[in-house]
Amino acid sequence: EGSDGLDVSKLLATTGRVGLDIGFVNTASCESAITFIDGDEGILRYRGYPIDQLAEKSTFLETSYLLIYGELPTKEQLEEFTDNVTRHTMLHEEMKRFFAGFPREAHPMAVLSSGVSALSTFYQDSLDPFDEEQVHISTIRLLAKLPTIASYAHKTAIGQPMLYPDNDLGYVENFLRMTFGVPAEKYEVDPVVAKALDRLFILHADHEQNCSTSTVRLVGSSQANMFASISAGVNALFGPLHGGANQAVLEMLEDIQAEGTDPKKYMEKVKNKEDGVKLMGFGHRVYKNYDPRAAIVKKDVRAVLETMNKPDPLLDLAMGLEDIALKDDYFVERKLYPNVDFYTGLIYKAMGFPTEMFTVLFAIGRLPGWIAQWREMINDPKTKIGRPRQVYTGETERAYPSK
Ligand code: ACO
Repeated sequence: EGSDGLDVSKLLATTGRVGLDIGFVNTASCESAITFIDGDEGILRYRGYPIDQLAEKSTFLETSYLLIYGELPTKEQLEEFTDNVTRHTMLHEEMKRFFAGFPREAHPMAVLSSGVSALSTFYQDSLDPFDEEQVHISTIRLLAKLPTIASYAHKTAIGQPMLYPDNDLGYVENFLRMTFGVPAEKYEVDPVVAKALDRLFILHADHEQNCSTSTVRLVGSSQANMFASISAGVNALFGPLHGGANQAVLEMLEDIQAEGTDPKKYMEKVKNKEDGVKLMGFGHRVYKNYDPRAAIVKKDVRAVLETMNKPDPLLDLAMGLEDIALKDDYFVERKLYPNVDFYTGLIYKAMGFPTEMFTVLFAIGRLPGWIAQWREMINDPKTKIGRPRQVYTGETERAYPSK
């Protein structure tokens, strides 16, 4: 009899010697050379480069190249890569009908995952995971088309016409124009907004074996194509305990503000786990110290809001909640610090994105990581189909009753 009441000898008889690690807390699922995290020290590096240096000096497309191909590109390589991505931003005309088929109030994450899945129906000639050329073109198509799908999901939700991509604009600038521009009116991209969004995408670009990336790898381990695998990753990101937390944080702050709740009282509710309430945007499976991405966003948020001339009282509320948490035994003992989602929503809101789009922005940022991890998995000769075991706790054999 185990301490948890399970009959261990019975379990061993039915399952053999398998480890039980619910939530994969201590189990590595693969080897990877892409991203390094030291959760105790709060360190994050892509291909060896510290996240703060990339956020300061790199661009999202350069970082994407780094993650996917392992090295920073030369000037020529980056130009070719950028040009390639830019030339594939258009969606097949037939695909636009897809958006009209969803209810207007559909969540854009659901539209995004469906759109990514649908891409495989348009490119059936390039789905072989072991054909380098086909993997290359799928990589480019995904990077190019995800922002287009995202902005069309938004346009459909607000009932505005979709805009074609503009090949003269940069990656982020084009996305902003497709999202916020309207036909027949010149859309001036605010360089402050574009730079801030590019930087946020860099911060989200990979995070080793998180829930969505593990999903991408698991689906891909069956040799499913990249579109199918990444569509599954988008769905995994949707949940409020993962990427959906950025939406949940803003909704939490808005609720506290609207109901005039005293932040201290709210924190008491969190600590007492009343109705399962959590401080959204806090805590992390790996970081037991300040999330280095959150530290960068926290440094940026006030400056970005000020430069955009959009001060927001919710920022003071968020900072107030963090101050309480950092001094409170409940959070200190459990090593709960803000994660990347705690402050990002305030920037997205100031940029004009509706709350439902926040997790979509996370998905655009995380895409190069998913692609890099999928490619690493498919090229690793040690890869096997992901097939966890279970510990069976049901009935032993019993006879079907005679009637
Ligand atoms: N608010 C209050 N209590 C919390 C929080 C939180 N945000 N996060 C964890 N805890 C508590 C748990 O209730 C648990 O308490 P207990 O020891 O009394 O049972 C303890 O801290 C340990 O937490 P676990 O849930 O066991 O930690 P786990 O590693 O499984 O979960 C997770 C990590 C999902 C991120 C969790 O901290 C959480 O739900 N946070 C809020 C949602 C969130 O912000 N998600 C985004 C994560 S980052 C990302 O995906 C980009």
